[in-house]
Amino acid sequence: MKILICYFSGTGNTEKVVRSVRDAFESHDCSVLLHKVEKGLDDLPDDFDMLGIAYPVHAFNAPEIVVDFAKKLEKSPVQKKLFIFKTSGEPLKLNNISSLKLVSILKKKNFVLTNEYHYCMPYNMIFRHTDQMAYDMWQLAQQLIPIDVGEIMSGKSAKLKKVFCGRFIAWVMRIEWWGGRFNGKKYKVTDKCIHCQKCVRSCPVGNITIKDGKFVFGKKCIMCMRCSFHCPTNAIKIGWFESWKVNGAYNFNKPENVEDNKHDKFCKKSYKKYFERGWAKVNSVEADASSNPGQIAEAQPE
Ligand SMILES: Cc1cc2nc3c(=O)[nH]c(=O)nc-3n(C[C@H](O)[C@H](O)[C@H](O)COP(=O)(O)O)c2cc1C
Repeated sequence: MKILICYFSGTGNTEKVVRSVRDAFESHDCSVLLHKVEKGLDDLPDDFDMLGIAYPVHAFNAPEIVVDFAKKLEKSPVQKKLFIFKTSGEPLKLNNISSLKLVSILKKKNFVLTNEYHYCMPYNMIFRHTDQMAYDMWQLAQQLIPIDVGEIMSGKSAKLKKVFCGRFIAWVMRIEWWGGRFNGKKYKVTDKCIHCQKCVRSCPVGNITIKDGKFVFGKKCIMCMRCSFHCPTNAIKIGWFESWKVNGAYNFNKPENVEDNKHDKFCKKSYKKYFERGWAKVNSVEADASSNPGQIAEAQPE
């Protein structure tokens, strides 16, 4: 089976998940093509059997770059299955509404949603999660991904719960798309800059240029945070949201010392259910596997 997964990842979390999703599909003997949506539609094959979309939740929506990509996708002559993998910093139920627009666009193109999965990954904006939390999130995602891919392969549908007035709330929250453009113009580079130009090269929409030796931020910012998150000297100020900036990649390894973090209490409480539910799913699949090894061999990669 041929699977095409089109994805966007601002700072790397979704890409990490997508790579793991690819490995899980490959262990089912599928051939998987990963395609970054920022590369546009060139070289996109049409002989795939299933379409996957992956993205980070932005203001309870899919990022605009993902929605625009979906709008430009060609209509499939035959109906194909669609699955979605998304990451977000919080396990809020409101995140369930983020694919609504995307799914209706893709339905018109003959891609019909059968499965949607959501993993918490550390925040790339608002506040920095502790290394322990980043480690815990990734440990769970790594266990869930092969199980969730097993569900897709076995034809078991999985959709997220509906939210009352979800379509309307998502529409309102898409103000972030406009806010991002205005705010992007306010980005500034401080004298900590070492002129490596990593930000210029990596911006997914080519919004950062250099004119007369100065950085110019255009009107196309999609607030993915790639430039400021990965800036090696933390030299980029992100306008109105400077106090929410997170700088520096998470390493996802088990930390040697547990740090004291002012967000820890909030995190522990609000993520408790997410971890409990996730590990319950992992444990129940493992229990089924030991009582009925033949059946689970089909649902889980070896
Ligand atoms: C502009 C912006 C908006 C975000 N909005 C949400 C949100 O509505 N809900 C949430 O839980 N996380 C939100 N996040 C956090 C990201 O979804 C999360 O950190 C994600 O894993 C980042 O993935 P990436 O590294 O692939 O970009 C937001 C992040 C950014 C930059």
